[in-house]
Amino acid sequence: MSIERSFVLLKPDAVARRLVGEILGRFESKGLKIVAMKMLTVTKELSKQHYAEHVQKPFYPMLEEFITSGPVVALAVEGPQAIAVIRAMLGGTNGREALLGTIRGDLGLSRQMNLVHGSDSADAAARELAIYFQPHELLTYASSLDPWTCAGDEK
Ligand code: RTP
Ligand code: MG
Repeated sequence: MSIERSFVLLKPDAVARRLVGEILGRFESKGLKIVAMKMLTVTKELSKQHYAEHVQKPFYPMLEEFITSGPVVALAVEGPQAIAVIRAMLGGTNGREALLGTIRGDLGLSRQMNLVHGSDSADAAARELAIYFQPHELLTYASSLDPWTCAGDEK
C-alpha cells in the first residue's frame, strides 16, 4: 500500500451552497491530510485542460458552462490509497443514484452539479495536480495525528 496524493475540486455548486466546510470536514474526519488548497475561478481554457477526456462529448458545453460559473476550491489530499478512498467517498456521478453515505449521495440531486471532483487514477492525479498547482504549493508536513492514521505495515 502506498501514501498517495489525489486532486480534488469542490465545484461551483459546493461553494454556492456553502458546503465547503461540510465536504472538507468529511475528508478530515476520514483521516486524510490536506496538503494544498486554493480558491479560484476555472477559465474555459483550464476547463478544457482538466476535462480533456470529455471535450468532444455532447455534454461538454454544459459542463464547461457549469464549472466556469463561479469560484471553486482546489485541493491536494494525501493518505493511504487516497485516490480510491476519495472516489468511494464521492459516490457515483449522479447524486440521485449515488449511495447514501457518500458525499454526492447525501448532499446532491444532480448528475452535473455533483459538488466535487476526485482523480480517478494515479495518472489522472499527477496530471490534474500539475494543472492546478505549482510543485512548491504541494506541502509536506508531519502532524501529531499521523501515527493514528494507520499502522506502520499499512503505509
Ligand atoms: P468528475 O470527473 O467530475 O470527478 O466526475 P465523474 O468522474 O464521476 O464523472 P465523469 O464521467 O468524469 O464526468 C465529469 C463531469 O461531467 C458532468 N457530467 N455531465 N450531462 C451528462 O451526461 C454528464 N455526465 C457527466 C458531471 O459534472 C461529471 O462530474
Ligand atoms: Mg471523471
